[in-house]
Amino acid sequence: MIGIRVWEISKCYRTGDRSVQALDGVTFQVEPGSFVAVIGYSGCGKTTLFRHIAGLEKPDSGIVSFLNHRSQAVPDRPRLGMMFQEPRLLSWLTIQDNLLLALRRTSLDNHERSVSEALLQVGMQEFSQAYPDQLSGGMAQRVALARALCRKPELLLMDEPFGALDALTRLQLQMELARIWAENPMTVLCITHDIGEAVTLADRVLVMADGRIVRDCPVDLPRPRSPGQPGFENLKADILDFILKNKKELTL
Ligand SMILES: Nc1ncnc2c1ncn2[C@@H]1O[C@H](COP(=O)(O)OP(=O)(O)OP(=O)(O)O)[C@@H](O)[C@H]1O
Ligand SMILES: [Mg+2]
Repeated sequence: MIGIRVWEISKCYRTGDRSVQALDGVTFQVEPGSFVAVIGYSGCGKTTLFRHIAGLEKPDSGIVSFLNHRSQAVPDRPRLGMMFQEPRLLSWLTIQDNLLLALRRTSLDNHERSVSEALLQVGMQEFSQAYPDQLSGGMAQRVALARALCRKPELLLMDEPFGALDALTRLQLQMELARIWAENPMTVLCITHDIGEAVTLADRVLVMADGRIVRDCPVDLPRPRSPGQPGFENLKADILDFILKNKKELTL
């Protein structure tokens, strides 16, 4: 399994005479096989961080590297699965073909089998021949999760994967993601706006503000987690309090 080391990453965007320090010396490490959530107010740099870890952007300074279980840097990029707020499915391809496309440049054999296993994991096996516009929003996000999973990712990167869903569908998908992660060894980094989601799913919650990690909060609650369990609401309230205090200090 693969871990992540983010070391002093900085990124400044310049548009005309305006510049934004989106990342400002971000440093943290993610243990192989762990589930880490990143939370923070809008514009604090979460998606920018995601894009740097995914290799979609280069930092001005700092390094992103990937680690084996002995904390040694690995030379190759890990096999990534990615999921975004919107499903990003190609409307002219069936669900099966959308997933097969995601496997095109992987070294995995038997692509058809990987696709049907992934659709089965998210309960969408009956829809392999459907087209994206025949699915509800929740079903489309299930397919997006299957598309990430069919690559058998060593590292699953998620940017607000359930952010556009209604509350019930969201809770259901959180449960399923928790089950899938327990059954499939992989490292997950999940960006979310939802503190309850972070506490339900993660081993650690990293709080971002102003392009930096300002708190690293372990979640020591037993799994499977649910809002009713002792300690859950207290931890949520503690994290929310911290975010609000930070926001206030930054905007005053
Ligand atoms: N390509 C870009 N060009 C210029 N500015 C950018 C670019 N990408 C991000 N930014 C700026 O960097 C800052 C951080 O953006 P980012 O998208 O990382 O925030 P975020 O934490 O993901 O916010 P949200 O929760 O709303 O998705 C913002 O001020 C944004 O305007
Ligand atoms: Mg974002």
